[in-house]
Amino acid sequence: MRQDPLAYLAAELDSLREQGLYRSLRVLDDRQQAKAHFDGRSVVNLSSNNYLGLTTHPKLVAAARAATETFGVGSGSVRTIAGTMAIHMELERRLAAFKKTEAVVVFQSGFAANAGTVSAILNKDDVIISDELNHASIIDGCRLSRAAIKVFPHKDVEAARRIVRDLPAHQRKLLITDGVFSMDGDLGAVADLCALAEEYGCIMMVDDAHASGVFGQNGRGTIDHFHMHGRVDIQVGTLSKAVGALGGYVAGSRAFIEFLYHRARPFLFSTSHPPAVAASCLAAVDVLEQEPEIIDRLWENTRFFKAGLVNLGFNTGLSESPITPVIAGEGSRAMKLSDRLFQEGVFAQGLAFPTVARDKARVRTIVTATHTREELQFALDAFAKVGRELGLI
Ligand SMILES: Cc1ncc(COP(=O)(O)O)c(C=O)c1O
Repeated sequence: MRQDPLAYLAAELDSLREQGLYRSLRVLDDRQQAKAHFDGRSVVNLSSNNYLGLTTHPKLVAAARAATETFGVGSGSVRTIAGTMAIHMELERRLAAFKKTEAVVVFQSGFAANAGTVSAILNKDDVIISDELNHASIIDGCRLSRAAIKVFPHKDVEAARRIVRDLPAHQRKLLITDGVFSMDGDLGAVADLCALAEEYGCIMMVDDAHASGVFGQNGRGTIDHFHMHGRVDIQVGTLSKAVGALGGYVAGSRAFIEFLYHRARPFLFSTSHPPAVAASCLAAVDVLEQEPEIIDRLWENTRFFKAGLVNLGFNTGLSESPITPVIAGEGSRAMKLSDRLFQEGVFAQGLAFPTVARDKARVRTIVTATHTREELQFALDAFAKVGRELGLI
């Protein structure tokens, strides 16, 4: 009989089980919202990226429904063949105006936007200078480009400077950082890295996936927050988190975006968004422009919850955003914390190596604009109980 050539993967899974790192997927039984049903339990949901509650916003739902009725459920092709619909172009125009850039290209996801962009614009003769905690999609894009990758310690602009300074002046260089780091919730060194990029003629790129809809005026992101308009060559945003639907976008100059239309592989080789997705993203831009008070609510909830965790004595790292990690140390401890919280009615996902460093496993909490104070207090009470039980506080 033929031996299973994939048997080694089962052995790897066994090893994860032994280390207490095996995860089953939590299954959401109904809507993605602040209080939700996962695995049949009603829990306060601190694990989504649905910062503004837009996944269920009536205007987005109505827009998706209407677009489906009018245009059908799929685009039927990649963008460069027959899959560019008027609604895709409208979304790109709206996002460009929103981001105050010349042009925008929308990808199927933020992951595709990062990986597709970096791999399209660089080749093996170029060099990338990248923060060590940049998102996996940036890392994959860097690898696909075949450019040399130089990693600097997290937010260490002087280390980045030493790398850039020693590179040949004629070599093409991309300096890249997350705007908000997804595991720690701290802000990238956007302003200082921009100044460095300008000094040495680097291309400057910021991945604002977790800043879109959260930072800056009406949620325009960290470039707006730091008053850096016109100084960042490549801005990436996502439509999958605060915007509530799905997708990623890249904002920049017209020529750069047109180049991506010609060379970014996810754009060329993967089917474009269904009309309902584009329509809900358009409605989300309306909401960001017309209802900025939901962003204020997100920040009020963030301040309340963060202060609550700190007052209880948890190690919440250096977070400056609605992402607040509760650092537990070893992977198995973080998973235990997450499991016990779930039993107490709170869903905060555990994250361990390779997602975060081996000794910095954590549960990650993300509050949303739609959590009530009662829900957040309930979650804090659960953290207090379980944190004491596990000796974390
Ligand atoms: C920093 C960062 N960039 C990009 C992405 C990818 O975005 P998307 O979920 O839209 O693919 C994520 C999502 O996990 C992220 O955290």
